[in-house]
Amino acid sequence: MTAPEPASTAAGKPAAKPVVLTCAQPTGKLHLGNYLGAVINWGRMQDDYECHFGIVDWHAITMPYKPADLRANTYNCLAQYMACGLDPAKSHLFVQSHVIGHTELSWILGCICPMGWLERMTQFKDKSKKLESVGSGLFTYPVLMAADILLYNASVVPVGEDQKQHLELARDLAEKFNRTYSDTFVLPQPFIGKSGARIMSLQDPTSKMSKSDPNPAGVVYITDTPDIIRKKFRSAVTDSGSEVRAGDDKPGITNLLSILSGVTGRPVAALEADFDGANYGKFKDAVADAVIATLDPVRLRYESLVNDKAALEAVMKAGAEGAQRNANRTMSKVYRKTGFVERPR
Ligand code: TRP
Repeated sequence: MTAPEPASTAAGKPAAKPVVLTCAQPTGKLHLGNYLGAVINWGRMQDDYECHFGIVDWHAITMPYKPADLRANTYNCLAQYMACGLDPAKSHLFVQSHVIGHTELSWILGCICPMGWLERMTQFKDKSKKLESVGSGLFTYPVLMAADILLYNASVVPVGEDQKQHLELARDLAEKFNRTYSDTFVLPQPFIGKSGARIMSLQDPTSKMSKSDPNPAGVVYITDTPDIIRKKFRSAVTDSGSEVRAGDDKPGITNLLSILSGVTGRPVAALEADFDGANYGKFKDAVADAVIATLDPVRLRYESLVNDKAALEAVMKAGAEGAQRNANRTMSKVYRKTGFVERPR
């Protein structure tokens, strides 16, 4: 599926760009699956859309966490996204807790959100099962997510399959708010990336690449050095036979082909032809080389960004200011429609 066309006027003058928003929790390191499956596509939207990229620290505290890790991960996460090509000169890169409005709108939406809508959320069921004590913030997490989206009137929301149900809830809440208080919010559309970009573990190609992989060799991080990347690809599991071709009977080789296709932009069929007659070892080395060529500049940019806290804070500040202007526009409408007396200034 491709993203909707940006609007333009008859005179050829570009209309206001459609608004894109997506967010990620500041949890540790990004891996190749995050990069090829998501972040690379976000970067490509920056010229045609008004993009908002949020680091959602309010969401991060809905599960048990360590404060020092949250703070460090917020900086790291920003540096990693910038290294991957999210550009503060083009887009709003902001930290959720730095913009006033997310939690306020979340409260207002929570008051019209029936309990039953939240009780249906499969992610809540999965996450709460693992906890001894379930905070109510975990339960209302999808309402906060709806607020993130509606606060900027985003029409396009790039998300993974696992967030589709939350996005439907955001649409339902937007509709209910519009019905209750009159038309206010654009109904957000999910933008689910191409299925070809589904990257699996190098050690178990039947499960998604994930930082919680029981075998750390299955995950390639965007900050891995060339040596580590080469080692991980050399030890990647392959399949029986010796042909380099994609197919249901060859999950390992299929995964390596989609990784190679993701980093080179060449279709899988063309790659199969390139490696006709090559053995697995040669093929794996070629995949490693191509991944290194893509990720090494990312790692180097990350290393130059991550230790300059003042520079990262300046990015956070500018990002929050831009986002805040857009948030204020929405919130003054919302407060007026819901009957609040304007905040004295
Ligand atoms: N729940 C999302 C995730 O874990 C993160 C998120 C929070 C989000 N708010 C959002 C994603 C708004 C898209 C839009 O991946």
